[in-house]
Amino acid sequence: MTASAGILFEPQTFGAATLRNRIVMAPMTRKRSPGGVPTAEVASYYRRRGTGGAGLIFSEGAFIDHPSAQAHEGNAYDNIPHFFGREALRGWERVLKAVHGTGAIFVPQLWHVGEVRRLGMPDDPAVPGYGPREIVQDGEVVVKAMSARDCEEIAESYARCARTARQMGCAGVALHGAHGYLMDQFFWPESNRRIDRYGGDIENRCRFACLVVERIRDAVGPGFPIVFRFSQWKMTDYDARIAESPEELKTLLTLLVRAGVDWFDVSARRFWEPAFDDDPRSLAAWTRHLSGRPAIAVGSIGLDRPHQSKFFRDKVRIDANVADLGPVVEALARRDFDLAAVGRAILADPEWPEKVRTGRIADIRPFERADLAAYR
Ligand SMILES: Cc1cc2nc3c(=O)[nH]c(=O)nc-3n(C[C@H](O)[C@H](O)[C@H](O)COP(=O)(O)O)c2cc1C
Repeated sequence: MTASAGILFEPQTFGAATLRNRIVMAPMTRKRSPGGVPTAEVASYYRRRGTGGAGLIFSEGAFIDHPSAQAHEGNAYDNIPHFFGREALRGWERVLKAVHGTGAIFVPQLWHVGEVRRLGMPDDPAVPGYGPREIVQDGEVVVKAMSARDCEEIAESYARCARTARQMGCAGVALHGAHGYLMDQFFWPESNRRIDRYGGDIENRCRFACLVVERIRDAVGPGFPIVFRFSQWKMTDYDARIAESPEELKTLLTLLVRAGVDWFDVSARRFWEPAFDDDPRSLAAWTRHLSGRPAIAVGSIGLDRPHQSKFFRDKVRIDANVADLGPVVEALARRDFDLAAVGRAILADPEWPEKVRTGRIADIRPFERADLAAYR
């Protein structure tokens, strides 16, 4: 092990569990679960990342049991796993067992796409999208502006799935509150123009996510980590912001902590970039500082080019070479964050953590476009 990378391999407390290191496999949609059911192949895929040395493994986003949670847009949202229903949960049990067998810890990520869904999409074409605002196309309401009751019902759906995760033996539950999906659509003033208590200032824009977290906490009880992923950037807009200042960020984080969040998973495209003008601190560092909660950083760890969302992938070069880990090691030493999540690098090379631990950096496979289609 190289001395500098040693900090990545310190154990870390996570709820009732102890992670063997600080390397996290980031949540990544892989579309290998026909009918929403994770197959044996899915279990093998996660097992390989556990064998490769990751300490904590997040599942890809898995749909909650509300009928509006899913989208089908071209093939972009096909074969995404469910986190409900007997067959799908059996599939997740298989994944959990496979991951635990490697000494890694497993946490599922719960997902609702919000207004990405439109009326007419399967499974039930009669169910429109649900989001903060109404969207009308050709005179038809394709996305329904959520009522207070809808907010409550979707929060309950999250809570049911989180309870299932605890009963199943997962180490915690993760919420996808980032990248322009449902909870983030409420955070972002661009998609949230509401004038009721769910829209307006940051406190109101945060209310729906807080409701979700509160319902989950009521359902799972204490001592079960709730990990909340948020981002400034959106799939469709890399320059978007939900918090314009540290003060706004502090309000958002304080409310989420009060609702029951234990960990923040801070999604950036480059983990080290300053979050606000006139201060070098990254969004993860600000988050840890302002929330008093541990933070996970993600974004171009180990790679020299940032992640591109599906909206931009065809327009730019997406291959990325192996990059120096000095900046992440230094940030961990500064206590900017507690865990380092790795996405594409661990997709390209399941043994990434083990190769870093044993100093075999030259053996690490770089990330190539073909890795998105491959399933190793
Ligand atoms: C193929 C792919 C699928 C992804 N799916 C999800 C997802 O389901 N949920 C999520 O929160 N982020 C998702 N992301 C974002 C990653 O978790 C991560 O934040 C991003 O790739 C940046 O990390 P990286 O630079 O290490 O790849 C995905 C990324 C990729 C490359």
